[in-house]
Amino acid sequence: MNQHELIDKLYKNQILSQDEFVQLINNRDEDSQVYIGQLARCEADKVYGKDVYPRGLIEYTNYCKNDCLYCGIRASNSHVNRYRLNQSTILETCHQGYDLGYRSFVLQGGEDPYYKDELMVDIVAAIRKDFPDCAITLSLGERSYKSYQALYNAGANRYLLRHETASEEHYQKLHPSSMSLAHRKECLYHLKDIGYAVGTGFMVGAPYQTAENLADDLLFIKELEPKMVGIGPFVPHHETPFKDMPSGTAELTTFLISILRLMNHHLLLPSTTSLGTIEPTGREQGILAGANVVMPNLSPVSVRGDYELYDNKICTGEEAAECKGCLSRRIESIGYRLNYCRGDYIE
Ligand code: 5AD
Ligand code: FES
Repeated sequence: MNQHELIDKLYKNQILSQDEFVQLINNRDEDSQVYIGQLARCEADKVYGKDVYPRGLIEYTNYCKNDCLYCGIRASNSHVNRYRLNQSTILETCHQGYDLGYRSFVLQGGEDPYYKDELMVDIVAAIRKDFPDCAITLSLGERSYKSYQALYNAGANRYLLRHETASEEHYQKLHPSSMSLAHRKECLYHLKDIGYAVGTGFMVGAPYQTAENLADDLLFIKELEPKMVGIGPFVPHHETPFKDMPSGTAELTTFLISILRLMNHHLLLPSTTSLGTIEPTGREQGILAGANVVMPNLSPVSVRGDYELYDNKICTGEEAAECKGCLSRRIESIGYRLNYCRGDYIE
């Protein structure tokens, strides 16, 4: 099958075999990129129209007990200026976001044992009390079923936990031996079972990643049926073992965004900050390839530079209001608009 036939088959069946995905990825060229991008954007338009949903991201701690080889805030990076936001600062940040129009908040942090279940439940309950009309998304890594359940009961609605790679062998190349893909997957199924709207995802162009790995990622996503899939290019951080590895490309990232859109026309698909970091118009390209979510930073400017998962991250010096203006201009420049609603998955 040629590229057009493969894309047509994906469009029709919303899935391909492992071999077919590998072929589609390996043989991509400008023509197939344009073809799949147009189909993908058209399907996103049918479900979500010209709307792009903004989520206000609050990076509440950069302490992390893990030591993922790719990540700038890994435990063994002693050059990080570590911080934790307390409950009142987190609430204050939500209030500022609410005043700017945000109705969807994402609390993200490293795996920080300081935030035990009781404390985290208090924080979520306080946000829920002040913002009954907002979606609360958590991105706190791997926790117990009991912990996930308690946070859900306290008012959290959604959870983001990237699987990172669906190949056990590749997973081991990116993580210390204390971590496993099996446990990561178990957490994802627990979250789903509890009733969270689950988001997963992976880095594009991660060290040692093959087209077969990417095909496995797509097949795993088909099986999990998440409501959201976050993918962005790997970008090296200078204080990690992967400091000399090349970044992922915008070209492959947008191609995969289009594939994901054709696999599920309703998916919430962010055009990520890392995509905007490797190319000035990366986020716009992501939207045009089929993405429909952006996640501007709401964290207090005083800590932004310290949440550095990778080098040269954009928006670390801008106030939330500045990013709001910048992003809306960018989205409008390509014919789309930010819709400040909760931005739920449309069934
Ligand atoms: N480059 C790009 N993305 C990264 N992440 C972590 N480190 C990097 C990096 N160096 C991503 C991971 C994680 C998410 C919060 O950020 O996929 O799940
Ligand atoms: Fe933050 Fe443009 S979105 S400066």
